[in-house]
Amino acid sequence: MKQSVFLSLILLVNIAFAQQPAGFSRYCEDIGAVKYSGSGSYNDEHCLIQCRPYSGMYKGDLNNEVPGISICLLDADAIAYSKVGNVRIDEPVPDIFDENPKVKNIRPLITGVAHAAFFTKEVESTRQFFTGYLGFTEPFSLMAANGKDLALTFIKINDRQYVEVFPERYKGGNRMYHFAVETNDAEAMRKYLASKGVKVPENTLKGRTGNLNYFVRDPNGTICEIVQYEPNSMSDKNIGKDMPDSRVSTHMSHVGFMVPDLDKAISFYCDILGFREIWRGSRDDKNVTWVNLQVPDGEDYIELMLYDKEPSETSMGSMNHICLEVNDVAVTATTLAKRNLPEGCRPTTEMKTGINKKRQINCYDINGTRVEVMEAKTVDGTPTPSSTAKPMKFVP
Ligand SMILES: [Fe+2]
Repeated sequence: MKQSVFLSLILLVNIAFAQQPAGFSRYCEDIGAVKYSGSGSYNDEHCLIQCRPYSGMYKGDLNNEVPGISICLLDADAIAYSKVGNVRIDEPVPDIFDENPKVKNIRPLITGVAHAAFFTKEVESTRQFFTGYLGFTEPFSLMAANGKDLALTFIKINDRQYVEVFPERYKGGNRMYHFAVETNDAEAMRKYLASKGVKVPENTLKGRTGNLNYFVRDPNGTICEIVQYEPNSMSDKNIGKDMPDSRVSTHMSHVGFMVPDLDKAISFYCDILGFREIWRGSRDDKNVTWVNLQVPDGEDYIELMLYDKEPSETSMGSMNHICLEVNDVAVTATTLAKRNLPEGCRPTTEMKTGINKKRQINCYDINGTRVEVMEAKTVDGTPTPSSTAKPMKFVP
C-alpha cells in the first residue's frame, strides 16, 4: 500500500472513531463491549478494531495483544462493518491476521460464574435450605432416565446464575460436583481450549435445559463447565421470573473450591482462560490460603481454596462453597433469624468481619456445604492488601 493511501486510511479511521459512528457503537454494544478503540494494522479493505468489555483490559497494539480480545473488522471508513464480534477459528481468517499469529486463536468472552453444582444426601432438606431459608426459587428440575428419580434441580439466584442440586451418587466425601462459567461462544471456546491442549468433547451440544454446555477438567481435576445461554432454553424462558423479594441476595459473587496445587490452577485459569488475580489472603500470615481470580470479561470471581493436608469432610464442606453478595449482612442475619433452618443443619454463624475486611455470615446446608453471605465493600472502604506469604500446597 502506498504511504499516502495508508496515511489517509488512518486519518479516516481516526475521524470515524472521533465521531463514533452509530452502527459501530451499536454493534460493539451488541457484543457487550463498552470500551473500544482502533489500533493495529490496516489494509485496503479493513481496519482492525479492538473491543474490550471493561476499561483497563485494553493492552495497546496488536503485537502486545493478549488472547481473549473481541475483534471488529470494519470497512476502512468505519461505517460499514464486514464482520463484528469474536473471530471464530473455523471461519476463514482474513489476510490481516496472517501477520499476527497471536490473534488467530482468540478466546471468546468469559463473562461470569453461571452456576455451582453440589451433591446432597437429602434433596428435600437442601431444597428447603435454598428456598424456605435463603428465599430463592426452584423454577425447574430434570428427572432421571427412569422418569421417577430426580436427576437435578435448579435454584435460581438471578437470570444468569443458578445453584444446581444433585442427589448424591456416593456417600460423603467432596460434595462439590462442578462449577460453570458463562461464555458468549461455547463452540469457539471449545476450539480455543483444544488449541491450548485442553481435553475437550468432540462437539458442542445442547444440554437438556437447552443451553450449550460441556465439561472440561482443570489440571487439578476440578470440573469447569462452559455454558452459553441459548434462546428458548429453560433459563431463557424464565428470564425476569422467579426472583422474589425473599431472596437474601441477587448475586453470587464467587464460587470457591479446593485447589491442591496453585501453580497448576493458575496455568489453566489465568494463562489459558484469561482470569486475573485480584487478591490473595492468608488465615495465619504464614501461608496463603485463598487466591481470588476474576473472570476476564466480568466481575464474578473464583476463590481458590488452598490446603496442605488431607481435609476432613467438614473442612471440604467449608472450602467448596458459594458466596452470595448482600448490601448489609446485619439485615440478612436478622431476616434469617426469623426463618426456619431445616433440621440437622449447622446453625448460621454470628456476623464477623473477615480477614478480607468484609462483613460476613456463613450458612450450611444439611451436608455442611457452606453458603457464605458477604458484603461487597470492605468495612473501611479501602482495599485489603494481598498477602505475600507462601501459598499452601497439598502434599499427599
Ligand atoms: Fe468465599
